[in-house]
Amino acid sequence: MLFKVYKEQELQEVAAYVAGLSQNDSIIFLYGDLGSGKTSFAKYLMREFGATCCVTSPTFNIMNIYTTASFDVYHFDFYRIEDSKELINIGLEDATNTGLVIVEWPQIIKDTIHATIIVEINVLNEGVREVNVRCN
Ligand SMILES: Nc1ncnc2c1ncn2[C@@H]1O[C@H](COP(=O)(O)OP(=O)(O)O)[C@@H](O)[C@H]1O
Ligand SMILES: [Mg+2]
Repeated sequence: MLFKVYKEQELQEVAAYVAGLSQNDSIIFLYGDLGSGKTSFAKYLMREFGATCCVTSPTFNIMNIYTTASFDVYHFDFYRIEDSKELINIGLEDATNTGLVIVEWPQIIKDTIHATIIVEINVLNEGVREVNVRCN
């Protein structure tokens, strides 16, 4: 499904759609350049899940854990990760086994972890974005 987003609040509609596709063990990859709106989108998604913030990981925000009434949401950001060896002890495997997982900059794990939902944000020109959502 392709959404055209003209302002940030319109991400709510996309988030509602993605939440509707999600299950409590979904793995959601968020692709998009720096500043394209991945974190903003993740926040709208948390709102759709009724998730409350959060436990921040000590390792410079690689992982934040949110909770909902029925499941946990693990939000990862691998922007600063250069070597997948750095991910060995961060709890990614546990997260995929116990909750819903959202990953910004998933490139480094895309060949080892199977996403169930892929969201790609493309900035077209100032203020206009295309958000492509697909099930994998
Ligand atoms: N759809 C949008 N339209 C306009 N501005 C947006 C949109 N999504 C996010 N932004 C703004 O862009 C900036 C970067 O967003 P952020 O979510 O941090 O990007 P990313 O996580 O992809 O680096 C923020 O100031 C945010 O408010
Ligand atoms: Mg971000």
